[in-house]
Amino acid sequence: MKPAVKVAITGAAGNIAYSLIFQIASGNMLGKDQPVILQLIEIPPALGALEGVVMELEDCAFPLVKGIVATSDINVGFDDIDYAMLVGARPRSKGMERKDLLLGNAEIFSAQGKALNAVAKRDVKVLVVGNPANTNALITMHNAPDIAPTQFTAMTRLDHQRTLSQLSTKLELDHTRIHQVAIWGNHSATQYPDVFHTLVDDQPVIEQLDMDWIEKALIPDVQTRGAAIINARGASSAASAAVAAALHMHDWALNSAQPDDWVSMGIKSNGDYGIDDDLIFSFPLVCRDGEYDVVKGLEINDFSEQRIRLTEKELIEERDAIRHLL
Ligand code: NAD
Ligand code: LMR
Repeated sequence: MKPAVKVAITGAAGNIAYSLIFQIASGNMLGKDQPVILQLIEIPPALGALEGVVMELEDCAFPLVKGIVATSDINVGFDDIDYAMLVGARPRSKGMERKDLLLGNAEIFSAQGKALNAVAKRDVKVLVVGNPANTNALITMHNAPDIAPTQFTAMTRLDHQRTLSQLSTKLELDHTRIHQVAIWGNHSATQYPDVFHTLVDDQPVIEQLDMDWIEKALIPDVQTRGAAIINARGASSAASAAVAAALHMHDWALNSAQPDDWVSMGIKSNGDYGIDDDLIFSFPLVCRDGEYDVVKGLEINDFSEQRIRLTEKELIEERDAIRHLL
């Protein structure tokens, strides 16, 4: 048996965590041979509800769970952790954009960045799910100067899976045959789902699609899918977000299920494709051996370039709004 790794989950009594914690405990995220110690973090008013989640977790008697910590003290919750799933934050409700959450949620991430810097392992892998995820990840990263910027990521994997699903429905084929989807930019209504490099088996998908569908259906549907779920459910996506979070961390830590296929993650820009290098920006990546690399050298046409610039501009505006926390 491998030694146990420590996984912190914030917002542990919330909707996403109610699914995510059980996925991690059953080995869906880090593998069926990887024992875990779960460090569950909530704000004090939610500790009672968290106690109920812990009781349910105990009742599952998961063989991989080697310890459970439930706390409202982030220095305890982040102590010596290998993985941080930063979920805890307010969700939006009908009629709001994710960036409307920025000022309310931003301070959570400056405090958590400082705590990670103080007590987490130096190679901790951090995934920010709480919205607006990219800018919250930027705040977390800036507040943890002793941890490498590569370790801070934001979730655009749900958008990536949504794009795969839309393509598979449109083309009436199994989505496992679809490769090289890319989400560029912000997890917001300006994100750009790019299918110009996408393959079905080894053929370009673009040959089977018309531009009208891409422009008027695929892109806006992916951009506004979160709002459509809020309208239908009365609450934001939770189970699908948990699946996407587990996939994100799985692929980063253990490599993608389909070797060399692309994933989309918000990462600190290195200036690739001319993107401002002080943003957490979603790029197409390949994960290998616990690390990731931006897919380089893609030809970006005018259609894509315009949309990539638009989502970059929005992220710069978000950064300007929370400059005092960086
Ligand atoms: P929720 O309201 O059900 O749960 C959030 C939990 O976080 C609550 O239990 C709350 O008490 C807790 N919390 C608040 N502040 C905290 C803090 N400082 N420390 C620890 N816990 C804290 O919300 P949810 O549905 O679980 O969604 C959580 C976040 O994830 C929201 O911001 C939502 O918009 C976002 N989200 C992101 C994506 C994505 O693709 N990036 C997808 C879905 C949801
Ligand atoms: C999503 O994409 O479903 C989440 O970011 C929740 C939201 O606010 O849309």
